Amino acid sequence: MKKRCLLSFLFILPLCLLNGWPSGFQAINRNVTILLWHWPFGRSFSLKDDVCWDLYSIPHCRLVDQRSLYPTADVVVFHNRELVKGSQKLPFDLPRPQGQRWAWMSLEAPIHSGNLQQFANIFNLTMTYRRDADITIPYGKFLPKEAEGSLVDDIPLNKSSLVCWVVSNYKRRHKRTKVYNELKTIVPVKVYGRWTKTRLSSRDLLPTISRCYFYLAFENASAKDYITEKLWRNAYQGGAVPVVLGPPLNDYKGVSPPNSFIHVDEFASLKDLGKYLQQLMEDKKLYSEYFKWKQKWRVKLYTDWRERLCKICSQYRSLPPQKVYSDLEAWVNN
Ligand SMILES: *[C@@H]1O[C@H](CO)[C@@H](O)[C@H](O)[C@H]1NC(C)=O
Ligand SMILES: *[C@@H]1O[C@H](CO)[C@@H](O)[C@H](O)[C@H]1NC(C)=O
Ligand SMILES: *[C@@H]1O[C@H](CO)[C@@H](O)[C@H](O)[C@H]1NC(C)=O
Ligand SMILES: *[C@@H]1O[C@H](CO)[C@@H](O)[C@H](O)[C@H]1NC(C)=O
Repeated sequence: MKKRCLLSFLFILPLCLLNGWPSGFQAINRNVTILLWHWPFGRSFSLKDDVCWDLYSIPHCRLVDQRSLYPTADVVVFHNRELVKGSQKLPFDLPRPQGQRWAWMSLEAPIHSGNLQQFANIFNLTMTYRRDADITIPYGKFLPKEAEGSLVDDIPLNKSSLVCWVVSNYKRRHKRTKVYNELKTIVPVKVYGRWTKTRLSSRDLLPTISRCYFYLAFENASAKDYITEKLWRNAYQGGAVPVVLGPPLNDYKGVSPPNSFIHVDEFASLKDLGKYLQQLMEDKKLYSEYFKWKQKWRVKLYTDWRERLCKICSQYRSLPPQKVYSDLEAWVNN
């Protein structure tokens, strides 16, 4: 009898060591349940079947939006906009199950995030475009190309405008407005969008930008890591060299390869910037340097909230075991 016990113990021990004991033992094939409390901007998408696997090859991830599943959820996600507007509320009336995490999700700049002081000591996770968030959900990113492409085919050269800008929300107080107003006295800037009543349809957007040497990827707010589709989609996918304004140069350097963009702050004056753009336009070789990244990299856009939510599962095992945002307002504005 004793011998049998010893034998089975010796047999089971290596298994336990392999799988991790005890939490990993049951966690290995367990599905993680992510509950989205309300859909961002009220627009919902299908969560039928195994969406995270079917669409994004992320396994063991159960993405749901039925509030009745709250007691079984590992992570409950709250989109900030509806909370600060008051159209949705946090479920303080429900007891929080042991180990359940609440995630605060937002893609907006701090200045458009509303009053977050009310959310002290509530959330365990942040989900934003910031690189230091628990779950980083950028507007886009660079992925290495599997096979190196040939550069020649990749440089769009059928250009008719020097600098283009698409702007819908024109505000005098924006820094980008001041920069635009000065820049246009130095070089011609072609402006599209709601502000000038030359709105581009989504079908016309990229082809129009592709006919510009440079695109002003000017963010509407200047905040840490706040780099939006203006860079990732409009400029990079449109095939114009981005001239960027928003967070500091180092934030861009952290996510984009060298020589793939031009930051306004790299120049002592806008006059210098304007001269440089003109010089690049006239020198095809110099200009094409700004497309060299295409040999090694491709740009991926993120547009689906489901993909962002599924990402929680890929990172679930390495989330901090215990964390509370005691001052979310301070974190967001840091
Ligand atoms: C996990 O989810 C998948 C897909 O919905 C399902 O087929 C599987 O049985 C679940 N596994 C467990 C352990 O619940
Ligand atoms: C180049 O752009 C012009 C418009 O600016 C367009 O009419 C023409 O078809 C384009 N040519 C090529 C080869 O794409
Ligand atoms: C700022 O830009 C972002 C990204 O393009 C956009 O989603 C948002 O609506 C803009 N906000 C304002 C107030 O213009
Ligand atoms: C999540 O936050 C709550 C509220 O502050 C806290 O009681 C709980 O221990 C936290 N859970 C984890 C897993 O960090």
